[in-house]
Amino acid sequence: MAALRLKDIQVLVQPELADFGRRYDEWIQNTQVPVVDKIIGFLGGSRGKLLRPTLCYLSARLLGESNERTHFAAVVVELLHNATLVHDDVVDKSDKRRGMPSLNALFGNKISVLFGDYLLAHSLLAMLECGDTRVFAILAETSRRLARGELDQAARSRNLDMDEETYYRMVANKTGALLGAACRLGGISNEADEQQLEALKDFGETIGVAFQIQDDLLDYTGSEGLIGKPAGADLRDGKITLPLLYAFEDASGKEIRQVKQWIRKRGRAEIRRVVDFVRAASGVERAHQRAVALGEEALARLEVFPPSPVRDSLADFSAFAVNRSY
Ligand code: IPE
Ligand code: IPE
Ligand code: MG
Ligand code: MG
Ligand code: MG
Repeated sequence: MAALRLKDIQVLVQPELADFGRRYDEWIQNTQVPVVDKIIGFLGGSRGKLLRPTLCYLSARLLGESNERTHFAAVVVELLHNATLVHDDVVDKSDKRRGMPSLNALFGNKISVLFGDYLLAHSLLAMLECGDTRVFAILAETSRRLARGELDQAARSRNLDMDEETYYRMVANKTGALLGAACRLGGISNEADEQQLEALKDFGETIGVAFQIQDDLLDYTGSEGLIGKPAGADLRDGKITLPLLYAFEDASGKEIRQVKQWIRKRGRAEIRRVVDFVRAASGVERAHQRAVALGEEALARLEVFPPSPVRDSLADFSAFAVNRSY
């Protein structure tokens, strides 16, 4: 299959996404606090793929036209996403994001943590505009899960502690929850019924897990130029993700201890050895197969909606999430 382009997935909601950029900027601008305006100006030049707004709009469009509430929901989820990325780059000590220096690289950790909170506060304000208490509950729960997932990963990376069950739970929390929320909020904005909302949530959450698996394997296979953030960063930071967990499945206790020792050393040569170990055990391929299987599982949940071009775009979204190279 020819690689899917992001543009093709977003074509049906292009008018909404064009409107989205303007709304997003207006929502956070004009603060009269110079440092905030400076950061917003800087971030405006690197918007990202807008996957969560895309999911939100496509989910709404399964049921009708996008409306004011859909637009606010899209702004809410992207603000929450960007807030977590700003905090994530501090936590991960990452100096690149979207092909540019990360905020922490430019402004330091202190300003970045505070700016992440600033985005979070704006996300809460935009949430009020959605005018539905179900939206409040979903976002409160999503924020809690994001924090739980990130805390779980940060704590475990200290002593290289990870197993498959924990990995899936952590990834569902840190990434699945928000993609599930994006779909569900889009549905709520267009009066989806309970069965449809459940399906949208499951679809988004499962795609989210598949998406994070792909992100984790790109850390093994991608290059900084392509993914816009440092490759190999997860291992250097003690993060054990699915490709390595698969490679561990077939390894002896002694081999696993050796690999963990290489990771602890963090040197270039040692990290190279870990990558070779994962390659030899087909860890990356197996993780990719798992992501593809999850993408298909997610699609089955959309069968409560009649076939339509919008549903096809969501199917394409799923394919993009697990075949993307950036
Ligand atoms: C990056 O998400 C963080 C993960 C959940 C892996 P995206 O790849 O959607 O980030 P942007 O918004 O397009 O930069
Ligand atoms: C990020 O996971 C997920 C969040 C919820 C922030 P990563 O740490 O893998 O994201 P990248 O690779 O830095 O984008
Ligand atoms: Mg990171
Ligand atoms: Mg991280
Ligand atoms: Mg990553």
